Amino acid sequence: MRKISKEQQFEAVKGWWNSEQVNKWDKQYDDWDPHTVRSLNRRLEKILIFVDELKFANGSKVLELGYGAGQTALKMGQRGLEVHGIDLSNNLCAIANERCRNECPDGKFFLKTGDIESKFDYKDNTFDLVIVSGVFHYLYNHDYCTSEINRVLKSGGHLIIGQRTSYSLNISTFRTFFRSCIYFIFREKYELFPSYKSILCDSKLGYFFDRYRDTKFFNSNFMLKGHDHWKYKLKKNLYSNGRLKSLCKRNGIDPIKLTGAYYAISENPKYYNLNLMIDDFIDKLTKIFLFRFFYRLSRITVLLAIKK
Ligand SMILES: C[S@@+](CC[C@H](N)C(=O)[O-])C[C@H]1O[C@@H](n2cnc3c(N)ncnc32)[C@H](O)[C@@H]1O
Repeated sequence: MRKISKEQQFEAVKGWWNSEQVNKWDKQYDDWDPHTVRSLNRRLEKILIFVDELKFANGSKVLELGYGAGQTALKMGQRGLEVHGIDLSNNLCAIANERCRNECPDGKFFLKTGDIESKFDYKDNTFDLVIVSGVFHYLYNHDYCTSEINRVLKSGGHLIIGQRTSYSLNISTFRTFFRSCIYFIFREKYELFPSYKSILCDSKLGYFFDRYRDTKFFNSNFMLKGHDHWKYKLKKNLYSNGRLKSLCKRNGIDPIKLTGAYYAISENPKYYNLNLMIDDFIDKLTKIFLFRFFYRLSRITVLLAIKK
């Protein structure tokens, strides 16, 4: 398995989220390919269902970690919540503040830049709700962040996590299927690229194959198909529902319920419309008690937890 230090990981994540390329995040919820638009909106939709069920009083305080371009923060402000946020990206901080100011001029937004793996700049027991959506996989030490969430949450306060998970329906190619099998068999902790090189060298199979990493064959087009050299500079945490739940539990926050968001078989544009049909079908199915367990096949898990 590739070794990477906390500093290297942080620099790679910070570099990416401060590059011009991420400004597109501004549009990804409404003006992107149907697959991305559906997955982000499904995640947001499921988060909002949990938020609305909790029936917060006007002015309740919510903290969003890694708020990106502010789409979720805006929805919180529109519900009368006082919204605080920390994000690593200067570009997205500017975009998020502008979005919230323009679309909810009466809202209370305090979105700033910072690192959520450092001590948060808030007092103990401050927030009624913390939201972390699509962020945990970038962290080097997600336990530290979760313990900080516990510290700033009020007793009885809630945490909502939206996080992509490892055991989804992704069966688009033999490589992705093989990767899912490796995740399942070896309980991998980090995401693998769907290239044979990554699957063989970066998983637990690396015990046998890592010594061939620099050979000509392991760097051939066949072995590198699906590899992403830029993203390869960082390691992304891989989550199963069980791993998300135990992350919360060991940091003093009790999971209450989980739901799935977005069922899709492939990122291949050829299958976008099929994905949307499958998503609609399985999402409806999970609402029937007997078929609820299908939520485990979703790409994204949305978890609601409470600080006792
Ligand atoms: C995939 S985006 C998700 C954005 C938003 N939560 C959403 O659901 O649209 C990940 C966000 O996490 C932020 N992020 C990643 N690592 C971070 C860190 N260590 N501290 C603060 N923010 C971080 C990035 O800057 C980026 O805005």
